[in-house]
Amino acid sequence: LVPELLTLYCTNCRLTGLQVNLEQKLFGQHIASKVLLKAVTDFVNKKTQKKPLVLSLHGLTGTGKNFVSELLASNIYKKGMSSSFVHQFVTTLHFPHISKIDIYKQWIKGNVSSCDRSMFIFDEMDKMPPGLIDSIKPFLDYYDNQDGVSYRRTIFIFLSNAGGETIKQVALEFWKNGKDREEIQLSDLEEKLSLEVFNNKYSGMWHTSLIDKYLIDFFIPFLPLEYKHVHMCALAEMANQNMEPDEDIADEVAKAMIYSPKEERVFSSKGCKEITSKLVQVDKKTKRLEE
Ligand SMILES: *[C@@H]1O[C@H](CO)[C@@H](O)[C@H](O)[C@H]1NC(C)=O
Repeated sequence: LVPELLTLYCTNCRLTGLQVNLEQKLFGQHIASKVLLKAVTDFVNKKTQKKPLVLSLHGLTGTGKNFVSELLASNIYKKGMSSSFVHQFVTTLHFPHISKIDIYKQWIKGNVSSCDRSMFIFDEMDKMPPGLIDSIKPFLDYYDNQDGVSYRRTIFIFLSNAGGETIKQVALEFWKNGKDREEIQLSDLEEKLSLEVFNNKYSGMWHTSLIDKYLIDFFIPFLPLEYKHVHMCALAEMANQNMEPDEDIADEVAKAMIYSPKEERVFSSKGCKEITSKLVQVDKKTKRLEE
């Protein structure tokens, strides 16, 4: 038994904490919320896992991919992202050279052999050289064990900006047709997304066997955020900093973001990123951003 684990691999585990967190803290991501909750809950409740859970999160910057990984980690491990069972690799930092992948495979093996319920997060997949990710394929596959190590209870999460523009186009079309963004379904995006990253040389997943061997369980789209979501992020961040949430300040901060496309100005170009630094710049008396 691993005492540091919170809820993972309990029987009849509903991960209610995760559900509440997703509902209250993640804004504008109805598809991601639903798919993630179901994927993770099903995985942890399965009596015997046949393969590790592999999730690929896609979306433009600031839409909540990293944030969601933190939510997952904090609902699974007591120490959240600081848990010794959670490993985050930032591509540009850890993989400047192809040879590094070998060290890194050793890390995965070493860590999973001491705790098979480990979680590995690969950030900035789109910066990974083409073909590199294939070398971790054996870890993600349907093997009973390899060299005495079983990866079937491990969670792998890939984060990528690749596919973000495609998602944005779909969201924009819905918007232009006057449809509610909540009507967008996973099926409107999932196949497009997997095709796009497979065919894009700069996605980190170009022609990867992880895709054509169906080793990625879910491609999860993160929609571009609108003004109202940025506004909610600002209020949440104020509460987070023990400030009195203030609608006017949230408005000022949300207005200061850049919205695209140029004409329609629907989606925040950086999502909810930089909210924290914008909040710092707000004069508490005038409730205006300092020049
Ligand atoms: C586990 O992973 C970390 C990186 O997160 C690495 O520094 C460490 O050496 C790994 N442990 C083993 C036993 O391989």
